[in-house]
Amino acid sequence: MKSVFALAGAMLAGSALVVSALPAGASPTGGGPGISKEAFGNMPDGTKVDRYTLSNGQGMRVRILTYGGIVQMLEVPDRRGRSDNVVLGFATLKDYVDNNSGPYFGALVGRFANRIAKGRFSLDGKSYQLAVNNGPNSLHGGLKGFDKRVWRAEPVRAKGAVGLRLSYTSADGEESYPGTLKTTVTYTLTGRNELRIGYHATTDKATVVNLTNHSYFNLAGEGTGGAYDHRLELNADRYTPVDETSIPLGPLAPVKGTPFDFTRPHTIGERIRADDPQLIIGHGYDHNYVLNQRRPGEPTRAARVTEPATGRVMEVSTTQPGVQFYSANFLDGSLVGTSGHAYRQGDGFALETQHFPDSPNKPAFPSTVLRPGQTFDAGTVYAFSTR
Ligand code: GLA
Repeated sequence: MKSVFALAGAMLAGSALVVSALPAGASPTGGGPGISKEAFGNMPDGTKVDRYTLSNGQGMRVRILTYGGIVQMLEVPDRRGRSDNVVLGFATLKDYVDNNSGPYFGALVGRFANRIAKGRFSLDGKSYQLAVNNGPNSLHGGLKGFDKRVWRAEPVRAKGAVGLRLSYTSADGEESYPGTLKTTVTYTLTGRNELRIGYHATTDKATVVNLTNHSYFNLAGEGTGGAYDHRLELNADRYTPVDETSIPLGPLAPVKGTPFDFTRPHTIGERIRADDPQLIIGHGYDHNYVLNQRRPGEPTRAARVTEPATGRVMEVSTTQPGVQFYSANFLDGSLVGTSGHAYRQGDGFALETQHFPDSPNKPAFPSTVLRPGQTFDAGTVYAFSTR
């Protein structure tokens, strides 16, 4: 059966790039693309966690953990060719295990990214009750979502690119969701300084799926302080305003004339303290934008972000219908990141490409239902350059 998420996603997903498997531990060759693997620690139950380093020979490196499929570090050149880590994260596995339930730094989020109201939904006449872990709602897949699982990893590579294919099978009933969900996420680092993420999932019973990556970026460099001076452009004329528990009210609202309008570039900080009820609910930006897609599933520019001092530019495109723009409102200085600096409010920002929050309870939103015989396919590309 054809995918409900009818997509041109394969190209974005990077699967076209993946032609052969690399032996784990194969060392980077010369100045070209390479991948290596090292032990990153053990889970409390003894399960081994590895860290893979992918490099593209063009100044970009990405470090990915098998725990949570977490992007731990992402090194990107600035306008002078100097590479810095541009994502927030932690230095050790223990930090991730102990502290990442709050921020979800760099993690793969599933089965259902973002919120489901009161943790409840019904599907084909059956009701499901998920764990409630964010006020009255279910957030990011529940108590032990995909961000807390150890994924199976397989290096893959093709001409000019290198990738890591992560797989996780979620058992029927895990976190109270129906159906055995087989998920594969492929990270690909290309020679054009792109990090591509391809998502693929199948089920044996009708279920709901919403997958994303929860990286926080700071294009001036991780640990350098606030990111409110980054200029952001979002390809979205509408967003989904929320109630006081961050569940969409239902109607899509125009951004025009509000501090939510990023159709032309604005710094993140310019209007973040405006007297707007939605900014007050979110403690800043924590909202889903409805991307201006021409056709559902068509790769669409979602965002462009520029950082003035380093000249770094990040462009995000995706096949997904929405993007949650989160300005790291809940970081409060209590977490110390990868390079030993405490993270405070606004020290990064997340652009979580996804389906809209609470879609299972909002029939008017693009459907997140996945049935046996269908495939969920989505792709997001983070492309880096300088100006
Ligand atoms: C998402 C949510 C935020 C917050 C972060 C994680 O972006 O929308 O409210 O929970 O995840 O801290």
